[in-house]
Amino acid sequence: MTEKRTAPELMDETDVVDLLLAQHAMIRDLFDEVEQAPPERRGEAFTRLVRMLAVHETAEEEVVHPYARRKLDGGAGVVEDRLVEENQAKQLLMEMDQAGSDGPEFMEKLALLRGAVTAHARSEERYEFPRFRAHTTAAERRVLAAAVKAAEAIAPTHPHPGTESATKNLLIGTPVAMMDRARDVIRQAIGKRS
Ligand SMILES: [Fe+2]
Ligand SMILES: [Fe+2]
Repeated sequence: MTEKRTAPELMDETDVVDLLLAQHAMIRDLFDEVEQAPPERRGEAFTRLVRMLAVHETAEEEVVHPYARRKLDGGAGVVEDRLVEENQAKQLLMEMDQAGSDGPEFMEKLALLRGAVTAHARSEERYEFPRFRAHTTAAERRVLAAAVKAAEAIAPTHPHPGTESATKNLLIGTPVAMMDRARDVIRQAIGKRS
C-alpha cells in the first residue's frame, strides 16, 4: 500500500467527487487493515479507520449533501436516505468505541459496520455522486475538494514522520468528538457559520 493511498491530505484528486471516490477505496483498505491486524495492533488500526470515516462522512454531510439537496431533482429524498445510513454507521462506531477493540464482539460488529459502510458508499456512488457531478461546475467541485482536504490535513490516518506530535492531539477522543472537530474545520474552510 503506498503512502498516497492511505494519507488523504496527499491525494492528487482536485475534483471533490473524484476525491470522495478515492476515499471510498481508502476506507476499504483501512477495513482490511483492521481485519488483518494482530490483536495488539487492532486498536490503532481501528482508530485510523474511525478518523478516516469521521472526516469522510462529515465532509459529505457538510459539503456534498447540502449541494445535492438544493441542486438535484428529488435531492431532499436522496440525501435523507444517505443520512439515515450514515447515522446507522455512526451508532455502530460509537458502540464499538465504547466496547473497545479487544471486546468479544468486536470482530462481529466490525463485519456489521463494514457491511453498512459498503452499502452506503455504493448508494452514494449510484444515486448521488453522478447527479451531483452533472449539476455542478468543475470550479465548484475544485473549491469543495479544497475544503474537504483542509479537514483531512488535521486528521492524518498515517501521520508523516516527525509530524506526529504536532498532529496527534488534533483529532482524538470519541468518534463523536472527532466528527465535531472535523465539522468545525470544514465549516471554517468553506466560510460557513456553525
Ligand atoms: Fe457518506
Ligand atoms: Fe462516502
